[in-house]
Amino acid sequence: MTKHSVQNSLLVLNSVIDRYDTKNRPVSNNGSAMQLRAKLDVSLGDDGADMSELEEMALNYLNINPDVSSAKFNKLLYSGLNAPALFGDWVTSISNATMHTYQVSPVATLMELELINQWNKLVGFNQGEGVMVSGGSQANLIAMLLARHKACPQAKTQGIRQTLVAYVSDQAHYSSLKAINVLGIGSDNLISVASDEQGRIIPAALEEAIKISMSLGHRPFYVGLTAGTTVLGAYDPVAPCAAIAKHFDLWLHIDGAWGAPILFSSKHRHLLADANLADSVAWDAHKLMNVPLTAAVILTKEQGLLKEVCSGGGSDYLFHADENAAYNLGERSIQCGRRADALKVWMSWKAIGNKGFEEKIDYLQQLKTDFVALLAKSRFELLHQPSYLNVLFRYNSAETLSEQGHKTLCIDICAKLKQQDIAYSDYASCKGRSGIRLILANANINIEQLQKMLTACDVIVISLLAERDYSAL
Ligand SMILES: Cc1ncc(COP(=O)(O)O)c(C=O)c1O
Repeated sequence: MTKHSVQNSLLVLNSVIDRYDTKNRPVSNNGSAMQLRAKLDVSLGDDGADMSELEEMALNYLNINPDVSSAKFNKLLYSGLNAPALFGDWVTSISNATMHTYQVSPVATLMELELINQWNKLVGFNQGEGVMVSGGSQANLIAMLLARHKACPQAKTQGIRQTLVAYVSDQAHYSSLKAINVLGIGSDNLISVASDEQGRIIPAALEEAIKISMSLGHRPFYVGLTAGTTVLGAYDPVAPCAAIAKHFDLWLHIDGAWGAPILFSSKHRHLLADANLADSVAWDAHKLMNVPLTAAVILTKEQGLLKEVCSGGGSDYLFHADENAAYNLGERSIQCGRRADALKVWMSWKAIGNKGFEEKIDYLQQLKTDFVALLAKSRFELLHQPSYLNVLFRYNSAETLSEQGHKTLCIDICAKLKQQDIAYSDYASCKGRSGIRLILANANINIEQLQKMLTACDVIVISLLAERDYSAL
């Protein structure tokens, strides 16, 4: 029996990495849950297992999960691998520190503060602060909580006694809907504001929506913009919305979970111009920066607000008034136990540097432009003018297909791409039209691979159209 110890675990991990053949595995292996249940035994029992059994399961785990580090994985916003961050993640687990107090997480606390300082610099919050969170969803929740506090400070102790209203575009991530539910404001009070053809919020529509709420006697309190929308990668215009938010005294948040890293690039940061006009910004390191999940931050322009809003309790036994009390990041957080996500982000930022992230973004933006040029010469058409790293495209049917026909065709193309191990892609619907959503987050992908994928799409679409009458759908 192999003993369970850290040393043995590392030996076994080494062996798993040696045996894990990323070159020859398909990007996605998985069938249905029923099929997997039939072939993979995940049962637990009374008797313990030794490391050799765990090694086999670890290998199964890696082989059956999609390979998100593969250049063929373009389905979601976190494709790729960041080796220094992975190293940091492993070290984080060995130490297993929690982030509530400086006493139990001294190094990660200083690292988190340095990261927050760097993120704020990029955003342009000169005196800003922040706290790391589990992801963009929690960052958006905290932003809405801060906004609620500003509009209605008594809500923290007495609850909400008026109708508060928040505004996001019709392209915003669904986490705003979750946030308004969690905060007890009610999902009917999240107004979906119209966006233009490229998926950017229309400022005049925002202003109109605010006026309607006010005429109903409601209290507008929050505007949530998106920098890099989930489907189209659109950037909402900050300056005109900031002017509206200021006029009506509303909190302005930017959800940059996906698109805020554009600020690393001097060539492309104009897409998120005027970010400093916001009150808060969400930024995920586990998307474009490829840090292993989870790693994200909520940044705020105003110092002290996070603690004012999020703190409460724990002073009897945890948050002692010692010389390091100001470094207890737990008082800025809604979590108690919080993993030291700072280390892996710090490790990768230290290794890659601002310039490395800038190069990555510039490379991917150029790749996007080159892919768009390829599309122009193909049987496929764009459904928008991509500004960021999302490209939504579909078969150009010269209007012979209905929307249902297009959607079914996209689903079938994605299924074939996966079956033939060409790419693991997804489809998305936006403004009533469906397309294949290509996400360029992995700097290991190149134009030859994208050309190969497009050529395969060409062949697949011809054979699918020959097999089935999509125009009848
Ligand atoms: C624009 C945007 N905001 C927020 C989120 C949620 O981020 P997370 O998955 O880190 O909670 C996503 C996820 O895709 C997103 O695209």
